[in-house]
Amino acid sequence: MHRESIREWLAASPVRLAPMASYTNVPFRQVAVQCGSGFTTNEEIDADALARDNARAVRNARTDVDLGVVAMQLLGCTEETMVPSALRLVEEGADIVDINMGCPVQKIVKRGKGAALMRDVPATARLLTSIRNAIPDTPLTIKIRSGWSEEHQNAVEVARMAQDVGVDAITVHPRTRSQQYTGRAPWDVIADVVAAVDIPVTGNGDVKSLHDARRMMEQTGCASVMIGRAALGRPWVFDPVYEALDDAGRFDYETDVVSRHLDLMESYFPRVEAVLQMKKHLMYYSRTWAGARLLRGELFDLKTTERVREVFSKRVRPIGEAAGR
Ligand SMILES: Cc1cc2nc3c(=O)[nH]c(=O)nc-3n(C[C@H](O)[C@H](O)[C@H](O)COP(=O)(O)O)c2cc1C
Repeated sequence: MHRESIREWLAASPVRLAPMASYTNVPFRQVAVQCGSGFTTNEEIDADALARDNARAVRNARTDVDLGVVAMQLLGCTEETMVPSALRLVEEGADIVDINMGCPVQKIVKRGKGAALMRDVPATARLLTSIRNAIPDTPLTIKIRSGWSEEHQNAVEVARMAQDVGVDAITVHPRTRSQQYTGRAPWDVIADVVAAVDIPVTGNGDVKSLHDARRMMEQTGCASVMIGRAALGRPWVFDPVYEALDDAGRFDYETDVVSRHLDLMESYFPRVEAVLQMKKHLMYYSRTWAGARLLRGELFDLKTTERVREVFSKRVRPIGEAAGR
């Protein structure tokens, strides 16, 4: 593998699915890729958990399903677990190792992980250097926010540091840690980072369509775009073919995608977890369905994959604008 490959992969993947913990597991990423997403990133893997051989972390690190290029994201803050975990991900088959520097969740940042890495730039530079040295031939990327808080915004400083220690590409979600997921994501922060570094920058935040993605690339000069929440229940957001369909065509397309997603979840997860995952994703899929309120009420109590499918089969064709799109 060659570190420069990242430029080629990004060019081939201008719009792709953003990592989302407990959603962007293998089946959902398969569906997103089938709908046209570029290469995907797994949900964050806690390096401490991986070092303990925690079952969920180990499963999330697997690359036994062909997803094309695969980025694996690590969450952590100490060399003791981050360095061996990065090595392990490469041995498992990760093409790219991505470091999470944006997770805003209190129980994560209070342990110094996620967005907390943006607060202590020298310590983070040391951590990234150690990881860089451990995996010298693998593209290493980071995903950052605009900063810790309104008063402490340092995306440009962090990006320059990252470039200096040998990070190969950066994703910017321009909200502060304090903002969590609220308010607007100011895209000008992405443009500031693009102007400050020579390595490729991926923009992220409030992109809801391919049109938005093109706008973000034009406005900020970013090399590619990640879509997060707008892809939940709408993996076809990546497909220009879907955009061009009429209501009837979209209904058939959606039915086909959701059916395939249910199949993939059923074959990938153990039974109990398959039901949980199917319900969670159907909650998102059903947001625009006619009669969704009733279906969602029913979904809540289901215990078997067969029953989940039965409820899905009750989905009715929307009548024109009633679909609420
Ligand atoms: C439920 C959920 C889980 C997320 N988990 C992760 C994660 O594991 N790693 C990460 O880098 N970002 C994570 N994010 C942030 C997204 O990748 C993305 O940066 C953010 O949602 C903004 O993009 P959007 O406006 O397109 O949703 C998560 C977001 C959500 C909503």
